[in-house]
Amino acid sequence: MAKLLLEVLKPNIITNLNQTEINYLSKLWVEKLPRHIAIIMDGNGRWAQKRMLPRSAGHREGANALKRTVEFCAQLGIKVLTVYAFSTENWKRPKTEINLLMNLLVEYLQKEMDALCKNNVKIITSGKIEELPRDAYAEILKAKSVSKNNTGLILNVALNYGSRDEILKAVKEIAALVKDGVYDIEDINYSLMEAHLYTKGLPEPDLLIRTSGEKRLSNFLLWQLAYTELFFTDTLWPDFDKKDLLEALLSYQNRERRFGGLK
Ligand code: IPE
Ligand code: IPE
Ligand code: MG
Repeated sequence: MAKLLLEVLKPNIITNLNQTEINYLSKLWVEKLPRHIAIIMDGNGRWAQKRMLPRSAGHREGANALKRTVEFCAQLGIKVLTVYAFSTENWKRPKTEINLLMNLLVEYLQKEMDALCKNNVKIITSGKIEELPRDAYAEILKAKSVSKNNTGLILNVALNYGSRDEILKAVKEIAALVKDGVYDIEDINYSLMEAHLYTKGLPEPDLLIRTSGEKRLSNFLLWQLAYTELFFTDTLWPDFDKKDLLEALLSYQNRERRFGGLK
């Protein structure tokens, strides 16, 4: 029998919600929740600019929004959350901003790992993390290793990630296997391709959220998003809260997904 999300959430989670959030929750069905949500966390710079603050303040507040969102997704029973944290194109930014983002990442992991583990969150990554500064790389490896047996929400952090890079990587790996005689050309199919993407083993994203009003993919999950439902909001990432996520979930729930077929 179909169940409302409100009926299955722990009472201590509901007591912490305001009336607007409860109104949203009372319309959401457990069966209609996305299994995998992907988020392009955008608008940190503009959030700071609006307040006459340095961009760094926006990134700091963005880290808090991530903390809130991960916690709430875990509470709602979402299986996978993929977040775009640093793209292969973000190296074009000033060195000072790149350093700050890397330091924030280290800080976030050092401060949050205990809480993430307590919430049973498993950290994985997508992207060339070995090219990140050494301390950031080490901290990520540590986070992945201490959380590897957790069975709750999978938090997939896209770091030094670019979808074109990812697809090229897969093509090169498969070409090498064909050259070595492991596969014939005829063996190359969707599932072999997917086995060579960073997202190997994960369900495809059901819902993509991009904040800050930009309506583009910016080299994010080009293969994986083929049939994903897209949700764009003007909310800047540092302001993204429970209400914004619930609004996206409600919109998703009311979509008719046809995958090219007929309903
Ligand atoms: C997103 O916010 C964070 C990263 C890309 C790392 P931005 O820094 O892109 O913020 P805007 O788009 O300049 O407002
Ligand atoms: C996309 O945001 C990358 C991340 C959120 C990490 P950007 O701000 O870098 O994207 P563009 O430049 O607006 O396309
Ligand atoms: Mg941006």
